[in-house]
Amino acid sequence: MLDHRDGMYFPTEDIVRHAHADRAKYDAMYKQSIEDPEGFWGEHGKRIDWIKPYTKVKNTSFAPGNIDIRWYEDGTLNVAANCVDRHLATRGDQTAIIWEPDDPNAEAQHISYNQLASHVGKFANVLKDMGVEKGDRVVIYLPMIPQAAFAMLACARIGAIHSIVFAGFSPDALAARVNQCGAKVVITADEAPRGGRNTPLKTNADKAFGKVEGDVKMLVVKRTGGDVPMEAGRDHWLHEMEAGVEDACPPEEMGAEDPLFILYTSGSTGQPKGVVHTSGGYLVYASMTHQYVFDYHDGDIFWCTADVGWVTGHSYIVYGPLANGATTIMFEGVPTYPDAGRFWEVCDKHKVNQFYTAPTAIRALMGKGPEFVDKYDLSSLKVLGTVGEPINPEAWDWYHKHVGHQNVPIVDTWWQTETGGHLLTSLPGAIPTKPGSATLPFFGVQPVILEPQTGEEITTTEAEGVLCIKDSWPAQMRTVWGDHERFEKTYFADYKNYYFSGDGCRRDADGYYWITGRVDDVINVSGHRMGTAEVESALVAHEAVAEAAVVGYPHKIKGQGIYAYVTLMGGVEPSDELRKELETWVRSEIGPIAKPDLLQFAPGLPKTRSGKIMRRILRKIAENDYGALGDTSTLAEPEVVDDLIENRMNRG
Ligand code: WT7
Repeated sequence: MLDHRDGMYFPTEDIVRHAHADRAKYDAMYKQSIEDPEGFWGEHGKRIDWIKPYTKVKNTSFAPGNIDIRWYEDGTLNVAANCVDRHLATRGDQTAIIWEPDDPNAEAQHISYNQLASHVGKFANVLKDMGVEKGDRVVIYLPMIPQAAFAMLACARIGAIHSIVFAGFSPDALAARVNQCGAKVVITADEAPRGGRNTPLKTNADKAFGKVEGDVKMLVVKRTGGDVPMEAGRDHWLHEMEAGVEDACPPEEMGAEDPLFILYTSGSTGQPKGVVHTSGGYLVYASMTHQYVFDYHDGDIFWCTADVGWVTGHSYIVYGPLANGATTIMFEGVPTYPDAGRFWEVCDKHKVNQFYTAPTAIRALMGKGPEFVDKYDLSSLKVLGTVGEPINPEAWDWYHKHVGHQNVPIVDTWWQTETGGHLLTSLPGAIPTKPGSATLPFFGVQPVILEPQTGEEITTTEAEGVLCIKDSWPAQMRTVWGDHERFEKTYFADYKNYYFSGDGCRRDADGYYWITGRVDDVINVSGHRMGTAEVESALVAHEAVAEAAVVGYPHKIKGQGIYAYVTLMGGVEPSDELRKELETWVRSEIGPIAKPDLLQFAPGLPKTRSGKIMRRILRKIAENDYGALGDTSTLAEPEVVDDLIENRMNRG
C-alpha cells in the first residue's frame, strides 16, 4: 500500500528500488538538465540511433522576432528505423503491438517486431508506388487499427509527413485539413467499428473529396469488408496494392529537424492550426518520457487508451513505446462497450503493467458502479497515468482504490499537442503525488508562473498566474504549418521570451504545480481541445443563425461542456426542432465532439458599446452563477442580460 501522509502519496520502498529514478536521481538529473542542457541532452540524445551523429545539441531562441528552435540539427536519423529495425536483432519475435478489436469476442492480434517490419516496409512501398516522396504530406483518417501505426511508420520511413485526422471528425473538417497541408494521399478504411456501431469512414472521405483541391489519391484499408464504392484511378485498396510490392523498403536518411508530422489542433482564434513536430528531438523526448514517466521496463505491457488521432496516441501509443522496444496496446473500442468493465477486462486479459487514460473516462466509469471493475484481476498494474485535464479528487480516489488497489502510483501528466511530450508530471519512484497536481517538471523543463497582466515572473515558491516555459525542450513544436507568424503570435507574443501555454496555474508551498484551466477561449471537452471560435463559425454558417457565442461550463463527465448562445436571423423563430438541427449541423461541420451540450436562443448578446461580446457574463450565466455578474454598466443594452438569465439552460 502506498504510504499516505500530509496529503501526499509516497511510493513503497519496493517501487523506489525498481524504478528508473528515485528522488535523489531525479533531483540530480533535473539539476544537470537545467544547468547544462547541452551536456544533458547531448548524452540522452544517444538513446536513439543516429545515421550521422549530431555535433550540435541545442540551438534555440525565444527572442522576439527570432523564434527559432532546433535540436540535434546536424544529426540524421530515420524514426521508423528507430521504432522497428533496431529492435529486430534483439527482440524480433517480441510482440510490438497488441491490437484489441472493438468486438470483445473477436480475437486480439499480436504483431511481433519482425511482422511490424514487414507491414511497415510494404506499406511504405505502396505509398512510394502512389507517388509519395520525401517531404510530401499524407493524411491518415483511420480507426484504431494496426494499419494506423503501420501508416505512420511507413510515412516516417520514406520521409513523408503524416497528418492524422481523428476518425470522429466530419467530412468538412477532413477536407479542410487535407487542403491546408496539401496532402497527396489520404489513407482511410471502409468502416470504423466502435462501440458496436460502424462509422462509414470511406463514405465520409468521399464526401470530403467533394471539397478537396487538386489531384489527391485515396488508399483504403479493408477493415469490415463493408460495401464501399471505389473511384477508378483515384481510390486504391491497400491489400491490392500490397500484393505487388516487396517487404523491404530502405529507410530515408532524414535531418533531425525534418518534419515528422503535422497535427491540427484548436486554438483560441480562427481555424485549427497545424502543429509541426520534427524528427530527432521529438523522438528522444517521447522515448525518454515514456520510459521514466511510466517507469517502463523491458517486457512490460503498456496501454495508452487514447486515439492515434490525438497527440497522446502519437507519442504514447506509437513513437515513445516503439522507440523503446515496448509492447504497446492499440484498442479499437470504447470504455463502455459492451459494458463499463471493458478497460479492466482488457487489463486483466493482457496483463497490462502501465495504464494511461483520461479523467473523463474515469468519471464515466466510476458512475457505473464498482462491480464493473472489482471483478477483474488488476494485479499486473504497476503504474497508472492520467492526462487531458486536472483530475478531480473523487475520480482520483476511485482510480487509486478500485483500479490501483491503493498500491499503484498515479502519474498526472500535464502537456499539450504543442509540447510533444509530458512537461509536468510525477515519476513513479521519485516524486510523491498530491491528487489533482501534475507535481513537478520533467528533465529540462523550466516552468514559470507569470503575473497575467504585467507578464512579470512570480519568483516566490507559492504563486498563481499563467503558466509559461522559460526555455526550449527537444519535443517542442517548431512552427505552425505554413504560418510561422501565427506560431510566434500564439505562443510568444503575449509574454516575451517565454513559451505561453494558455493555461492558468498555481504553485504551492512545496513547489508543486496545479493547473487551473485554460485562460484563453479554448474549452477542454473530455480532455480534448475545442476552440470556441471554431464552434461559433460553424454555427453562423447556418442560414438561420445571425450571431453565436460559445463558452465552456462545468460538466460532470466531460470536465467542460459546450454552451452556445445563438441569435437568429430576422423572421426565424426559435424552436426545439431548430435547436436539434443546429446541434446536428455542428456535428456535421466539425464532428460529434463539437456538438453543443446546451444551446440557448437569445434575443441579443451582451456587448460593450464598442461591440465586443462580454464573454465573462456569458460564462457566468452558463455556469449558473448569475448572481455575480460583476460590472455590467458598460453594456450597450443591459436588459439582454435579464433575458439570458431567465432563459438559461444550465440550472444545475
Ligand atoms: C490542454 C492541452 C496532451 C494530451 C492531451 C490534451 C489540458 C492536459 C492536463 C493535466 C490539467 C491538462 C491543458 C492543456 N491538460 N493535461 N494533466 N492536468 N490539464 O492535449 O488537446 O493539446 O490540450 O489540456 O489545459 O493546455 P491538447
